[in-house]
Amino acid sequence: MRINVFGLGYVGCVSAGCLARLGHAVTALDINRDKLADISAGRSPVQEPGLSSLIAAAVGDGLLQATDDAAWAVARSELSLVCVGTPSAPGGALDLQYVERVCAQIGTALRHAPARHTVVLRSTVLPGTTEEAVIPILNRTSGRRAGRDFGVCYNPEFLREGVAVHDFLAPSRIVIGQLDTASGDALAPLYQSLHAPVIRTTPRVAEMVKYTDNAFHGVKVAFANEIGNLCAALAIDSHEVMEIFALDTALNLGPAYLQPGFAFGGSCLPKDLRALLHRACQAQVVHPLLSAVFTSNEQQKQRGLEMIRRAGHRRIGILGVSNKNGTDDLRESPAVEVLAQLLSEGYDVMAYDHNVLPAAIVGANREYVERQLPRWSSLLCPTLEQLLAHAETVVIAARHDEFADVLDQLRPDQVVVDLVRIRRAHQLGTRYAGLCW
Ligand SMILES: NC(=O)c1ccc[n+]([C@@H]2O[C@H](COP(=O)([O-])OP(=O)(O)OC[C@H]3O[C@@H](n4cnc5c(N)ncnc54)[C@H](O)[C@@H]3O)[C@@H](O)[C@H]2O)c1
Repeated sequence: MRINVFGLGYVGCVSAGCLARLGHAVTALDINRDKLADISAGRSPVQEPGLSSLIAAAVGDGLLQATDDAAWAVARSELSLVCVGTPSAPGGALDLQYVERVCAQIGTALRHAPARHTVVLRSTVLPGTTEEAVIPILNRTSGRRAGRDFGVCYNPEFLREGVAVHDFLAPSRIVIGQLDTASGDALAPLYQSLHAPVIRTTPRVAEMVKYTDNAFHGVKVAFANEIGNLCAALAIDSHEVMEIFALDTALNLGPAYLQPGFAFGGSCLPKDLRALLHRACQAQVVHPLLSAVFTSNEQQKQRGLEMIRRAGHRRIGILGVSNKNGTDDLRESPAVEVLAQLLSEGYDVMAYDHNVLPAAIVGANREYVERQLPRWSSLLCPTLEQLLAHAETVVIAARHDEFADVLDQLRPDQVVVDLVRIRRAHQLGTRYAGLCW
């Protein structure tokens, strides 16, 4: 393919060198003339292992050239990749001035472009930027319309400096946020020789994925450091701990616990985290991230409660009160806390959970629920049908299979507050409120 790379920083230089290596004909553009001169001479403008030889070879093979003439470059190519910087503005906002300027240049060039062109934003931008900032500029400056006359994609870059060439050529996935199918179809062949799953989604999802990745990486570093600090205070080898931790790819380093939904609870997680924080305090180890976990968890319960209140009904039915399907453990169950809070506010609340048979709740489990809800057994409906007959607002608080069909069984006057995303597709429209989706 014939492509342009606008912006010769780390992302642009690595993209230009690697895409030429994959056989594409690349034109590199920058406002910095020294960088253009470097490329023309077969040198890399940035220091990155393996990149100099890629760029020298690409220039030698005639697959990479540099110019500052955007109109010329756009007119003779199919794709333009935007890799300019998006630094922090004072106060932390994202400074979009370089993205805006380069889009205006590309848009102006598109005015006279002879063939269909696709503009691909690779810079890191906040969700909504492609649709709300980039496309309006391209439309205005080109006098044409995105989607009809030219394509637009958001295609985040996940490379890490220092191993950027490897990351580019061996990505774990390629994410294409396409304005429409034609836009994605124009971009996908660029990567067809890479062995990685290609995920095609909306620009907004792709923009958010990039921030989700980086937020998670930051959280991981802070988490490991806080565990490390505590280990050091307790004379434990933190590296040995984390090596063993990382061996669990089912619960620790996998998709488990990463579906947005309701608060955590149960007989172990809160108790164990509390004990660990208490020990850290005793050892005088500060742990701002770990302490914030409880604040965040509490906030999620409040968010759920607020949605239930906002639904505006007095008769509430809660589906699922135990901590997990298949267990009747009610200790520190967030659904029990929601139930207790709503009762204290005067709501008429009932609950249903096929796992919870009052006569079978014994020991510490019974003590806990009786402390929270003295008349708890009278609040349990024996059948799902009875619960649905009672409720005006149905709260789905557990991912039990039998609740999946509830979304199809409601009366027109009933609404759902779904704390767990029991099912993705439904026909309820404004009668459905999801906790965080
Ligand atoms: N550096 C990384 O490791 C990395 C990784 C993934 C994503 N990103 C994101 O990619 C984007 C680029 O990052 P970077 O580190 O490569 O940036 P950078 O600041 O190193 O380079 C940006 C380049 O864009 C050029 N430029 C500015 N305006 C231009 C214009 N109108 N036309 C042509 N060139 C122009 C600048 O002269 C500069 O050479 C940022 O949004 C960044 O957040 C960076």
